[in-house]
Amino acid sequence: MAKGTARYERMVAPQKQVLFDGELGDVVEIGAGAGPNIRFLKTLRSYRAIEPNPYMHPHLLRDLAARRVQSSLIPDAAEGALARIPEGSVDTVISTLVLCSVNDPKALVALVKRVLRPGGRLLLLEHVGAQPGSTLCACQHCLTPVFRFLGDGCRPNRNTRVTIESGGFREVCLEEFELPLGPISPHLCGWARK
Ligand SMILES: C[S@@+](CC[C@H](N)C(=O)[O-])C[C@H]1O[C@@H](n2cnc3c(N)ncnc32)[C@H](O)[C@@H]1O
Repeated sequence: MAKGTARYERMVAPQKQVLFDGELGDVVEIGAGAGPNIRFLKTLRSYRAIEPNPYMHPHLLRDLAARRVQSSLIPDAAEGALARIPEGSVDTVISTLVLCSVNDPKALVALVKRVLRPGGRLLLLEHVGAQPGSTLCACQHCLTPVFRFLGDGCRPNRNTRVTIESGGFREVCLEEFELPLGPISPHLCGWARK
């Protein structure tokens, strides 16, 4: 992830600049990976990275050490880690390329909503399933078992918009966009406010 995603990060940089702009307050990032979002977070009070994969930790710890804000790494799966965070105590939760790989995205989004303060937001950027009935959608369904095996649980056919829109948020603002990435070209970017 640290070395192989430079091209992808260049492609999504315009979306991330807009998504992470402004005051973010107390931030929790789920599935922070090797930390590609940290450089975009300019105005925040604190940052907690939840990341279960130990191979990502040296990269995350190096980036966190370079930040002046209070930062920490929680080396667990988000399901357990979020359940231990007090309800209504977080201003911003970040998820990029994570809802495609967790087992139960609906349950995870419910946990995210629980930790958010009223008015707090989930910021997300995810690759998603294509339009139902399209050739790409059929292709994504066929490729999903291979992606899951090779991509650490990643499912290219996730309907993340439905997961977010049915998550009980007060306000949702999501935008679809395409990247030249074959089966994972459809993307969703935006936020959901508690
Ligand atoms: C495709 S990577 C994305 C990493 C990073 N967010 C990014 O945008 O590059 C998916 C990340 O989610 C993490 N992950 C998978 N299942 C998770 C879970 N249940 N809780 C938290 N993180 C998880 C993986 O370890 C991996 O770092």
